[in-house]
Amino acid sequence: MKKITTNITYTEFESIDELSNLDQKLIRDAEKNLKNSYSPYSLFKVSSVISLSNSQVVFGTNQENAAYPSGLCAERVAVFSAMSSFPTSVIETVVIVTEKSSKFPFTPCGSCRQVLMEYENKQKKNIRVLLKSGDSKIWIFESIKEILPFAFDAEDILKKE
Ligand code: THU
Repeated sequence: MKKITTNITYTEFESIDELSNLDQKLIRDAEKNLKNSYSPYSLFKVSSVISLSNSQVVFGTNQENAAYPSGLCAERVAVFSAMSSFPTSVIETVVIVTEKSSKFPFTPCGSCRQVLMEYENKQKKNIRVLLKSGDSKIWIFESIKEILPFAFDAEDILKKE
């Protein structure tokens, strides 16, 4: 028997001023779009912006429903929309912001991590995840693998005998 410890890596920034101009703009645009969150049940507004290799940006916000499980998270709205409009583009960065503040940013739910992992595997290129919640510190992950260790992926089930 042995106990194994694994590490994850991410970068923490105190303020948006420490980021590149492009990242700052993506965050500001995502924050502006928080108003389009439809979240009458949780009152928890989430907004996501995806930047693509073709220089397009695609927005998403959380969309709730009276039948609660029928709603969808902001980042999945954004990524499904991006891949529906530009299926051959490479996803470079996924920005996720919330209106609510906390010391450290809220992190994406398990289902969103799984969905993002699918596209990272498909495009064979890392996807950056940039998180900010209100006036929280900012976290950047350089790959979905950092936020979803031990991910289930299609490689094994698609393997030919
Ligand atoms: N939500 C997101 O949009 N993204 C996440 O990663 C976590 C949760 C939304 C879903 C729901 O509308 C609200 O936040 C409260 O769970």
